[in-house]
Amino acid sequence: MKPIKKAVFPVAGLGTRFLPATKASPKEMLPVVDKPLIQYAVEEAISAGCDQMIFINGRSKRAIPDHFDKAYELETELEEKGKTKLLEVVRNIVPDHVSCIYLRQAEALGLGHAVLCARPVVGEDPFAVILADDLIDGGGKTCMQQMVEQYERHGNSILGVEEIPVEDTSKYGVIKSTAIEERLSRLEDIVEKPSPDKAPSNLAVVGRYILTPPIFDLLASTEKGAGGEIQLTDAIAALLKIQPVLAYAFEGKRYDCGSKLGYLQATVEYALKHPELKDDFRAYLLDYVKHINPSG
Ligand code: G1P
Repeated sequence: MKPIKKAVFPVAGLGTRFLPATKASPKEMLPVVDKPLIQYAVEEAISAGCDQMIFINGRSKRAIPDHFDKAYELETELEEKGKTKLLEVVRNIVPDHVSCIYLRQAEALGLGHAVLCARPVVGEDPFAVILADDLIDGGGKTCMQQMVEQYERHGNSILGVEEIPVEDTSKYGVIKSTAIEERLSRLEDIVEKPSPDKAPSNLAVVGRYILTPPIFDLLASTEKGAGGEIQLTDAIAALLKIQPVLAYAFEGKRYDCGSKLGYLQATVEYALKHPELKDDFRAYLLDYVKHINPSG
């Protein structure tokens, strides 16, 4: 079985929910405490054993290559000022064995189209897809680490899933599956953004996928679906007709950083865990909450 070494990061979305913050900078560069979302995503891929990071860029995405590039002027300045700790932080954003590849998605034709753009680099290898605006704190093991472990046992495509409130089904790809063991099930159906009355369950796909190479031919022949976009979900629906696809209910907590509320929740909870900030921030928060008037 080929190992998962390549991780694809679709980062060409317009990020309209965060305008004007995302007018000139991609939503994946929004920081949670002191790291941009895309860096959490890359660290998760590296934790799972990936060493090739493939970014599918759109317009206004120069900030992402710049973030992962060497920053000579900044490093020289930090070095001259003797700020060694910060220098380490800036230098170690990606370890030496990891390479970053940038591809351009000329038109925003949807997530499926973005993944198809990775084909020339991914080729015939199985690969991971991480949507950086789903930030997942896996606790002991990261979400992608857990999924790669499942992949190594089964060798099939795997989708990261979680239970969502029924009224939210129209925001997600929603699946129907049969249980295999605790946390793992076999996909029977998948629908993109169904209304609650049409949803096959309340198990939603979050932004974590391990996919096998036949997905590319299927994506290439996928017509526009929900929202007039080429949907990854529709190609996965075709994939499960030719080979098993698994769903894995990961351990950990997901923050929907594509929404303002989810982003704020992540910011508060990551600050409460941050080694340098947690004590002061906790004291501040407890004091602040005392003075909040519950009726607004
Ligand atoms: C995408 C996928 C959807 C998935 C979701 C997870 O939707 O199309 O199937 O459930 O990511 O975050 P988007 O959030 O890009 O609209």
